Amino acid sequence: MRKPFIAANWKMNKTLNETKSFLKDFIPFVKDVSDVEIIIAPPFTSLYVAAEQLKETNIFLGAQNVFYEEVGAYTGEISPLMLSDIGCKYVIVGHSERRQYFNETDLIVNKKIKAAKKAGLGVIFCIGESLEEREKGNTFDVLLREIEEGLDDIDIEDLIIAYEPIWAIGTGKTATPEQAQEAHEYIREKLQFLYGNKANDSCIIYGGSVTPDNIDSLMACKDVDGALVGGASLKVESFTRIVKFKREK
Ligand code: PGA
Repeated sequence: MRKPFIAANWKMNKTLNETKSFLKDFIPFVKDVSDVEIIIAPPFTSLYVAAEQLKETNIFLGAQNVFYEEVGAYTGEISPLMLSDIGCKYVIVGHSERRQYFNETDLIVNKKIKAAKKAGLGVIFCIGESLEEREKGNTFDVLLREIEEGLDDIDIEDLIIAYEPIWAIGTGKTATPEQAQEAHEYIREKLQFLYGNKANDSCIIYGGSVTPDNIDSLMACKDVDGALVGGASLKVESFTRIVKFKREK
């Protein structure tokens, strides 16, 4: 049985005070939720205070990015060891914003996943097609390339795959449940081909304009095991409602 996995990706939002105040309100709202893995990924500057506040709660800490070396002269970078040291359990790797604005290639993503796993971090590995790629009918080819190259020589244990169609991120245009299910099913099939039965235990989560209004129908899809939530994770009320999605399966 795959446990639903709901993660907040705050991106470049929230100061220290805003982080503290969000968590102070959010923690009690979800304290009784035991059947969902809840993750908050604040910006690096908030990780330490968030780690302190999340101690002895049912919420896990995630980071939004990581470098692939452990230590050394890499100005501005953060290593996987530093993330686990500060209390992160997860890290997001390969987000389309990193690929688009910071030139992250499949090879870099692959190195980051390897380094993060070596440090004992769970990896939320993001893949997804652009609008142009979808319109040209290349969605599955893009997903296959990202899976094969991103996961080259990597075991899928402790790996969460986030299907995030780029055209749905921050646009208010969510994939329909049918579109999400179709992509997730394809991803699971490929994982089955590459890793056999382990693929049945892998969480494949959806990201892209997830809101309290569409979470229930997305979670009702057979192969949608959770969500990576950007904009709607910045408000306590909306993220709480997403974590407490209504089960139809
Ligand atoms: P969004 O972002 O929910 O604001 O579309 C999702 C993501 O990029 O992870």
